[in-house]
Amino acid sequence: MIDQVAEMEVWPQESPLSYEVLLEKVRDAEGVLTLLTDRIDAALMAAAPKLKVVSNLAVGYDNIDIPEATRRGIVVGNTPGVLTETTADLAFALLMAAARRVVEADSYTRKGQWQSWGPMTLLGQDIHHATLGIVGLGRIGAELAKRARGFNMKVLYYDKIRRSEPEERQLGVEYVSEMSKLVSSADFISVHVPLRPQTYHLFGAAEFAMMKPTAVFINTSRGLVVDQKALCEALKARQIFAAAVDVTEVEPIPHDDSLLTLDNIIITPHIASASVTTRTNMAVMAAANLIAGLKGQVPPNCVNPEAIRG
Ligand code: DGY
Repeated sequence: MIDQVAEMEVWPQESPLSYEVLLEKVRDAEGVLTLLTDRIDAALMAAAPKLKVVSNLAVGYDNIDIPEATRRGIVVGNTPGVLTETTADLAFALLMAAARRVVEADSYTRKGQWQSWGPMTLLGQDIHHATLGIVGLGRIGAELAKRARGFNMKVLYYDKIRRSEPEERQLGVEYVSEMSKLVSSADFISVHVPLRPQTYHLFGAAEFAMMKPTAVFINTSRGLVVDQKALCEALKARQIFAAAVDVTEVEPIPHDDSLLTLDNIIITPHIASASVTTRTNMAVMAAANLIAGLKGQVPPNCVNPEAIRG
């Protein structure tokens, strides 16, 4: 799609290009299609005077300085919608895997530890009829609620914006006005908020201390929403039962991170939207956003249309 309308250069490697190389590459660019590993800050935009559009291959855009882009008249595109259900699927898969210790059980089998059927072997937590607390009931949170209802779970949610009563009824969710109340009463807590200054370390020592000792914590949003040290301490002390995260404070997680030594956490490498169909749809959407921006139009999915609408 892009090739047909513009001259383009593609970074050919699987590992991301460094900030310095990107800085060099964007000097004459009018558009750039970025991954969430590319930092698009004020200095980079200053180094790219012709830049009209940044198209991010993600729904999240915390890697881009949006106010600066808007100030410079640069439109920013993202890929909402197409990854909603795929991401909710992984959140629910992580919830189930952590509750029923699926990863641990697989490694137990492979290590030859399966010697007999034991009444106390690898006991987990029930998912059906348990209470799920969703923090952030946006598109992905709402899809998770639907999956949970299929398992006869009671679903609570906390969000700074409350849904309308008909929406709550339709989703089968109950609003909790304080996050602390949700955190202390849920069996499963799943996070679905974007990374913003207000959500940085939203979950820390205080929140983990409030959780039930049987609680399972799931994060498929952004790593920096959670104080990872505090999570590690809570898991080590068995203050909570388990966690499953698709995102970490630093990505990739450093090989010597103490979270990797724990058996009560599952860590996947930021793959929540990684299905063939969804990644294809995201790519098409990102290309369409880029092309519109190159033509001086507002991209079909734009986070700052005011950048060119004035
Ligand atoms: C996003 O889109 O923001 C995810 O983190 C990657 O799909």
